[in-house]
Amino acid sequence: MSGGSGGGEAALHPDVQEVLFSEERIAARVRELGATISRDYAGAEIHLVGVLKGAVVFAADLMRRLDVPVRLDFIAVSSYGVSSRSSGAVRLLKDLDENPAGRHLLLVEDIIDTGLTLQYLVATLRARGPASLRLCAFLDKPARRKVRVDADYVGFTVPDRFIVGYGLDYAGRYRHLPYVGVLKPSVYGG
Ligand code: PRP
Repeated sequence: MSGGSGGGEAALHPDVQEVLFSEERIAARVRELGATISRDYAGAEIHLVGVLKGAVVFAADLMRRLDVPVRLDFIAVSSYGVSSRSSGAVRLLKDLDENPAGRHLLLVEDIIDTGLTLQYLVATLRARGPASLRLCAFLDKPARRKVRVDADYVGFTVPDRFIVGYGLDYAGRYRHLPYVGVLKPSVYGG
């Protein structure tokens, strides 16, 4: 480690070939989403449920753009592996800390890909008797969809490319990048 560069724009990560959404564009969109969601929930308290780990960055930014009361909770799920994922097998790794019954749940995801994670989460959470349940996804990749999922709020629709950053990882890395970028194929052997 050496000294800082003295501020300014962070250099593009060497494993990233192109920026899809810059930090500034993301901030503007998150601000818009926050305003829309705040209007829709006027007079209510949101029980914001972030889906670990990918949604952490988006959830943290979005909640600071809400001007209605917010409670924060997290849930974690995992698939049983690539082959079983296609069968829809998702398991709960970490449940909510608080009972969602009677609350206005806003499920916050980083990306909807096949839709299997959200399908499982919606079924699981609906069974707990929330007052309402809505979905907010930062990114939507419709080309990969296997099951129908209707998100109430979407940040951006993305093409079927290998993207990382702003919470999204590849092999556990790149979540901290402040932008969404396309990973170089040489990194994942594509
Ligand atoms: C990713 C992402 C969503 C899910 C979307 O999570 O965060 O939760 O996949 O994919 P789907 O629509 O095909 O179900 P991942 O399992 O990679 O875990 P992570 O959030 O910890 O990165």
